[in-house]
Amino acid sequence: MTETQPCLEAEYLNAAVRPRTQRVIPIVSALFIPTERLTAPLDQPAMFGRLAPLALEIGCGTGHFILQRAMQQPETDFLAIDIYNKGCLKTCSKLEAAGVTNVRVLRIEARELLLNNIPAGILQAIYINCPDPWPKKRHRDRRLVGRDFLELAQCRLVPDGDLFFSSDQRDYVEAVAEVLAGMPGFRNQLAAAFVETLPGYPLSKYMRRFLGQGLPVHFIHHRRDPAVALPDFQAAELRRGYRSRRPGRADE
Ligand SMILES: C[S@@+](CC[C@H](N)C(=O)[O-])C[C@H]1O[C@@H](n2cnc3c(N)ncnc32)[C@H](O)[C@@H]1O
Repeated sequence: MTETQPCLEAEYLNAAVRPRTQRVIPIVSALFIPTERLTAPLDQPAMFGRLAPLALEIGCGTGHFILQRAMQQPETDFLAIDIYNKGCLKTCSKLEAAGVTNVRVLRIEARELLLNNIPAGILQAIYINCPDPWPKKRHRDRRLVGRDFLELAQCRLVPDGDLFFSSDQRDYVEAVAEVLAGMPGFRNQLAAAFVETLPGYPLSKYMRRFLGQGLPVHFIHHRRDPAVALPDFQAAELRRGYRSRRPGRADE
């Protein structure tokens, strides 16, 4: 089966702008949940065989971050999602090789999962690391994280749930920090709007790459304020976004 999908590696920037055909390799890992097996709302005990705090990594890439986070927090269950088939495959392989059992990997778009499968107020944490590879100004409207997305994320967090966001793109981090500062339901957990080191926070593949090139990575950490009641999220307010499924894709 072939499909049109952006890829992650060196040609990522070009491929993301001009999608190209890529072979989809079937993933047989027991840690992988195919979307046809995903219930709405998701059935956490059936997925994990237990009921534990649940966290989500959006855009897990090839799994560097989630492997480390899941090992740091064995008492938490993690969903690691990406739209990149080969990334999901590599993530499963890494987790299996390390004997990690508290992660399930899904190939799904973030907004689709949050809207359709994640009930309100159940995520202990949401992690979004280096999500969008577009530094150019004209591509900014493709970015995943804006006010509408943050409102959706906020609704899915438990009342004191954590939101982590990181990027090498300073203007992106500034924009996200500014939106968060204006949302009464979030409280900044850092001494500044964003920082360049977050002790104990695992480094992802892209973070390591940027840091290795001498470039800074910026981190944001907010927590949902349990004292602030949230309105129901209105799905109609969410931009479909660049990464949402487009009609005619081979896997639809
Ligand atoms: C630049 S890579 C970074 C990967 C990893 N987080 C890291 O820091 O090494 C961004 C990843 O996020 C995924 N991604 C971007 N937008 C997404 C979305 N809306 N839903 C799911 N995955 C997404 C991409 O497919 C890609 O694998």
